[in-house]
Amino acid sequence: DRPELIDRFGRVATDLRVSLTDRCNLRCTYCMPAEGLDWLPTSEVLSDDELVRLLRVAVTELGVTDVRFTGGEPLLRRGLEDVISATAALSPRPKISMTTNGLSLAKRATTLVEAGLNRVNVSLDTLDRTRFHELTRRDRLHDVFEGMAAARAAGLDPVKINSVLLRGVNEDEAVPLLRYAVEHGYQLRFIEQMPLDPQHGWDRANMVTAAEILASLKTEFELTPEPAARGGAPAERWLVDGGPAVVGVIASVTRPFCAACDRTRLTADGQLRNCLFSQSETDLRAPLRAGATDQEIADLWRATMWAKAAGHGINDVGFSQPDRPMSAIGG
Ligand code: GTP
Ligand code: 5AD
Ligand code: SF4
Repeated sequence: DRPELIDRFGRVATDLRVSLTDRCNLRCTYCMPAEGLDWLPTSEVLSDDELVRLLRVAVTELGVTDVRFTGGEPLLRRGLEDVISATAALSPRPKISMTTNGLSLAKRATTLVEAGLNRVNVSLDTLDRTRFHELTRRDRLHDVFEGMAAARAAGLDPVKINSVLLRGVNEDEAVPLLRYAVEHGYQLRFIEQMPLDPQHGWDRANMVTAAEILASLKTEFELTPEPAARGGAPAERWLVDGGPAVVGVIASVTRPFCAACDRTRLTADGQLRNCLFSQSETDLRAPLRAGATDQEIADLWRATMWAKAAGHGINDVGFSQPDRPMSAIGG
């Protein structure tokens, strides 16, 4: 019996990404329509107890060492602090991180850290208030700035910023975003847009590529490849003007990193995915609610990961995007 979440290609998943809710309090144009999406009914969302049970199986039976909470927007999940402290109480204790839009982080950074949160990544695509309002359909840029400052003040280190550049919208902000991040001591990563939007509006020709982003950064900064090993990290990193500041680029489309992937994913409604782009899911909620044993759940999890594809296939002919959008899968 294999102890770990290993696949046919020898990759071992040690990093679990958990979507805590599919809802969000922003409406980024590239992620959701203005009216939002058809949210999961509450009865289909895992309860705290169900979620913690699955986390326990992952950590104690399956070798998961890192847990990242995502959404939608994870801060919208009621009782998030309780979920985090229950996760921190597992043995061996996993590292706990969160990916958030940062809107209500200012109020909660301290309690989240007290509960056991180790690291946070904040999504921020523009530094301009009007543009932020247009892009996210909410006038809340100031809350994000305060949220990031509060995260750092609460002792989270590094605080990472995720930025997606969109052609004709904010593609001119690569340099200002990096200057801002360096000045404030945040670690910036640019993300190539992926075909995961519910409107199916992704267009390769329109995507701002890693090469373009690096070219514009190099007009203002000296970038040298970071010597530290990358491991399974999605971001390739460069030292900025000799360091210690670094900037990352997550080039999912033009430089896929699937061969080193160490991820397994759980959606808010208890569906297991072996890849962001997998075409099928394994239902863990039904067996969980029908009284399955830890061993039975662990076996389903192992079998799901064993079937993981070699790569996301975005660059293959015949690629089709998964049924669920980014906000429901958890990114
Ligand atoms: P760190 O551990 O801080 O490096 O976090 P991360 O970059 O793995 O996670 P984060 O939630 O901040 O994700 C940033 C971007 O990377 C998002 O757009 C994710 O969808 C994308 N991403 C995360 N994991 C994967 C993955 O396994 N494959 C692909 N293609 N993209 C991923
Ligand atoms: N492609 C790449 N990144 C995306 N994000 C949302 N949708 C996409 C997409 N289609 C980003 C968010 C956030 C991070 C978690 O994922 O902007 O920064
Ligand atoms: Fe919300 Fe993130 Fe989607 Fe923006 S990208 S609408 S912050 S889930």
